[in-house]
Amino acid sequence: MSETTPSQRVSRLLLTGAAGGLGKVLRERLRPYADILRLSDIASLAPAAGPHEEVVPCDLSDKKAVDALVAGCDAIVHLGGVSVERPFEEILEGNIKGVFHIYEAARRHGVKRVVFASSNHVIGFYKQTEHLDAHALRRPDGYYGLSKSFGEDVAQFYFDRWGIETVSIRIGSSFPEPANRRMMSTWLSYDDLTSLIEKSLFTPDVKHTIVYGASANKDVWWDNSAAAHLGYAPKDTSEVFRAKVEAQPPVAPTDPNAIYQGGGFTAQGPFE
Ligand SMILES: NC(=O)c1ccc[n+]([C@@H]2O[C@H](COP(=O)([O-])OP(=O)(O)OC[C@H]3O[C@@H](n4cnc5c(N)ncnc54)[C@H](O)[C@@H]3O)[C@@H](O)[C@H]2O)c1
Repeated sequence: MSETTPSQRVSRLLLTGAAGGLGKVLRERLRPYADILRLSDIASLAPAAGPHEEVVPCDLSDKKAVDALVAGCDAIVHLGGVSVERPFEEILEGNIKGVFHIYEAARRHGVKRVVFASSNHVIGFYKQTEHLDAHALRRPDGYYGLSKSFGEDVAQFYFDRWGIETVSIRIGSSFPEPANRRMMSTWLSYDDLTSLIEKSLFTPDVKHTIVYGASANKDVWWDNSAAAHLGYAPKDTSEVFRAKVEAQPPVAPTDPNAIYQGGGFTAQGPFE
């Protein structure tokens, strides 16, 4: 990660989903980029607020609470919400209402930059043999993917109508290491994620940019040329884990994990 300079700081940065897997990682890593990092989640946050931090618990489905949450912030890294495939009613609350509330509050409080944690599941029904750029028609692979697709549309609308800029990061699989063969293509290291969020926060004039969040993996399916202005240059690669991953039992060619970019998400549900 590059050294921070005063031009790469905001006064108050909001991080939603701060109690989650990526939220915990980014809580540590985003601190240099803000005078105050405002941490929020519906789940309790530990440890309590440290220096240059404040904790504001919030349910994203509560419009008034989100309005108060966003007040006073200069930029938002929006990770909060349901992060797996779930019944529609759960997705509706955390993700669909949640993202709408975030942008409405951003509009009311004059926030000009959002980094939205979108997902590869907006294009999950493409085959793993296909290569995509940001202009590919979305093919969400479930209610979760639909909600991220909606979030990207909300981001575009709030740019066109209100000039609020967003980078929607279609995160692949951001974990300490790739857990399976599919993730050899989709893996995003925490260092590369941090670098991508830094670029997403501070690159001027991003309008609404869609970028695929993957490391420099050999078998990557995604082309980020439409987001070249971000200057994102991943440094890590899943190749270093190949022997470990390929020691796993083979995946049947008929398994969705071997067919679709969204893997097993394409085969979940129905829930009732
Ligand atoms: N980790 C990945 O590889 C990956 C891949 C694609 C997209 N993403 C997206 O990145 C973001 C972070 O992912 P993660 O892996 O840390 O997920 P996570 O589930 O660990 O974290 C999400 C957080 O959102 C909070 N949340 C859920 N509903 C909420 C609500 N109604 N109000 C407030 N907070 C709520 C949860 O309590 C949780 O702490 C998510 O938006 C996820 O969809 C992650």
